[in-house]
Amino acid sequence: MIRLVDLHKAYETKQGTVVGVDHVSLHIRKGEIFGIVGYSGAGKSSVLRCINLLEKPTAGQVLVDGVNLTTLSKEELRKARQKIGMIFQHFHLISSKTVFENVAFALKAAGVPKSSITGRVTELLQLVGLSDKAGQYPAQLSGGQKQRVGIARALANDPHVLLCDEPTSALDPTTTQSILALLRQINKELGLTIVLITHEMEVVKDLCHRVAIMQQGKVIEEGEVYDVFANPVQPLTKQFIHNALEFKLPRKLWDKLDPAGQVLKVLFRDDAAEQGIISRLLKENGISANILHGKIEYIGDKPLGTFIMEVKGTPEEIKQAVQFLIQQSCGVEVVTDVD
Ligand SMILES: Nc1ncnc2c1ncn2[C@@H]1O[C@H](COP(=O)(O)OP(=O)(O)O)[C@@H](O)[C@H]1O
Ligand SMILES: [Mg+2]
Repeated sequence: MIRLVDLHKAYETKQGTVVGVDHVSLHIRKGEIFGIVGYSGAGKSSVLRCINLLEKPTAGQVLVDGVNLTTLSKEELRKARQKIGMIFQHFHLISSKTVFENVAFALKAAGVPKSSITGRVTELLQLVGLSDKAGQYPAQLSGGQKQRVGIARALANDPHVLLCDEPTSALDPTTTQSILALLRQINKELGLTIVLITHEMEVVKDLCHRVAIMQQGKVIEEGEVYDVFANPVQPLTKQFIHNALEFKLPRKLWDKLDPAGQVLKVLFRDDAAEQGIISRLLKENGISANILHGKIEYIGDKPLGTFIMEVKGTPEEIKQAVQFLIQQSCGVEVVTDVD
């Protein structure tokens, strides 16, 4: 669906050349929600803006639906862009136009005949749940409502792809959830391919099928969201995951622990999260364990369990217990302090 082949983007500035995208190759499949995660300045927006050629790549290819956008004429590119919708963190609505007019504007710009516009805008506002706001101006809307207008506008010309640049970063958590639900619905009902940039791994966990992690213009890790959460490889990826799955042991509890015990953080992947591994751990290894903290997250519908437990036994028994967990393909980390 979308192929980036050795994409490179360098910006010439007064201070010299700044590399925004450093030789990135990615394949985004039809109908999937693909997340791009990274800290500010990692090159996420640059990659996204190269997908619709809002930024012209310095080198490399951008193929959308098999068409190499970098070789198109101006007119051909204008047409191709209509099939690539985009939404932004700060919505970019026209403040002097009503909700209706903001959406209609995208249709007019694409040359849709006047007679079809009203019907289509009505349909789009219904889809995003804003039928009763058609006559209002952006300043009268909440952030979530503004983003809904942005989504309606982006969908106006039946795009195949929706590019989302931090669409929920300016929204509160509840509104974020409602916008993510809308994007999920659009992806399912319209079969739209969605590329979503975020700095929050939580958003990726809730919404995306696959994800790429960017650092300094490069993609440093990519894969199925579940696999990246269950087996992060790069330190930066681990940091993002840690933040998303974070839970802290209160200092008070930590101070009360038996100095002879060992604290383990155990990750149960796939079915292991549901099977009785903990009871087998105790039965088969002669140790006792005390769960201090834990939860099972569902990513898609696959469970991923993280438990912090204090285990007690002889050093040999504890060593065996750790081996047992590794054999069950659990992730095991010895925790030596609360962070
Ligand atoms: N128009 C521009 N001119 C010069 N440098 C830019 C421009 N756009 C982005 N950059 C630089 O490219 C790098 C990547 O930026 P960006 O793609 O905006 O990252 P992100 O979206 O991950 O925050 C940064 O170092 C940024 O300063
Ligand atoms: Mg950005």
